[in-house]
Amino acid sequence: MLSNLRETIQHASKNNCIVPGFNIFGYEDAISVVRAAEEMDAPVLLMTNKFAINFMPVEYWGKILGEIAKDARVPVSIHLDHGKDYETIARAIKSGYSSVMYDGSQLPIEENIKNTKEIVKLAHALDVSVEAEIGSVAYSDVSLEEYKPSFTKPEEAEKFYKETEVDWLAVAVGTVHKMQIQNADIKFDLIGKIKDKANVPLVVHGSTGISDEDLKKLKNCGIGKINIGTALRMEFGNTIRKEMEKNPQEFDRMYFTEKAMVKVKEKAKEKFRLLGF
Ligand code: G3H
Ligand code: ZN
Repeated sequence: MLSNLRETIQHASKNNCIVPGFNIFGYEDAISVVRAAEEMDAPVLLMTNKFAINFMPVEYWGKILGEIAKDARVPVSIHLDHGKDYETIARAIKSGYSSVMYDGSQLPIEENIKNTKEIVKLAHALDVSVEAEIGSVAYSDVSLEEYKPSFTKPEEAEKFYKETEVDWLAVAVGTVHKMQIQNADIKFDLIGKIKDKANVPLVVHGSTGISDEDLKKLKNCGIGKINIGTALRMEFGNTIRKEMEKNPQEFDRMYFTEKAMVKVKEKAKEKFRLLGF
C-alpha cells in the first residue's frame, strides 16, 4: 500500500530498526525491492533521484511506482530523493509521490531554512512527508570545487528542525555517497550530540559505504531512515556484465534483467536484516 511512512519512521527511530530507502532506476529494481520488502514484512521507500527523473519524467515515475506501491502487501513510499527546487518537488507531489526530500544543503543555512519551509507548507497540506538536509554529505565522484561537504553541527540541526518542522532530517556524520567499499568512518559521537539537540528521526545518506557492523550499531542511535543506492546498482550492473560474458550469443534483455533482479532482491533482503527486520 502507498504510505507517507511518517508514523512508521518515527516509530522505527525509537525502536531499534531503520526503514531503508533504495534508489530505483527502473521497473526491474523497483519490483525486486518491493518483493524483498514483502518477504521481510517491512516498510520501504522507492526513491528516484535526479538521474532517474532526467532519464524518465517524474510524472511517469509517479504513475509506475504508484501502481507498484498500491499493489504491495507492505507500506511503500514513493520518495523524491535530493529534490533541488520547488518546481521539481511540486511536480513530484502532483504525480503522486508520498514523500519528498528538499536538498538545500549547499546553501547558507538561512536560505536552506526558508526554502525548506516553503516545501513543508506545500507538502504537509497534501499529507506528503518531507526530508531535508543540514550539513552536506560528501560524494566520492564529485570534486571539492563543485561541492563542499561538511559535517552537521548539532546546534544547526536543532535550529533547522525547530524552524522547518521537517519529518526527517538528513545529516552528515561520516558517510560518503557512491562508495563501493564498506569502510565509511561513522561519527557515532556526533550522531549522539545531534540527537540530544534535535528530536526528529535522522536520515543517513550514502549508506552503501557503511560496514555491516556499523549498520547494526546505527539501529540504536535514533536513525529513522537510511538511503542505499550504489549497493543495488552494483548488484544489478555486475550481474548483467557477468551474464553477458557467460552468454555472448544471448540478446534478450529479459534474460539478463531477470538474473539481475534475483540478485537485487537478495541484496535488499540482506540490508533489511541488518536494519532490524
Ligand atoms: O540519496 C541516496 C543515497 O544517499 C545513496 O547513497 O549510493 O552511496 O548508497 P549510496
Ligand atoms: Zn543521498
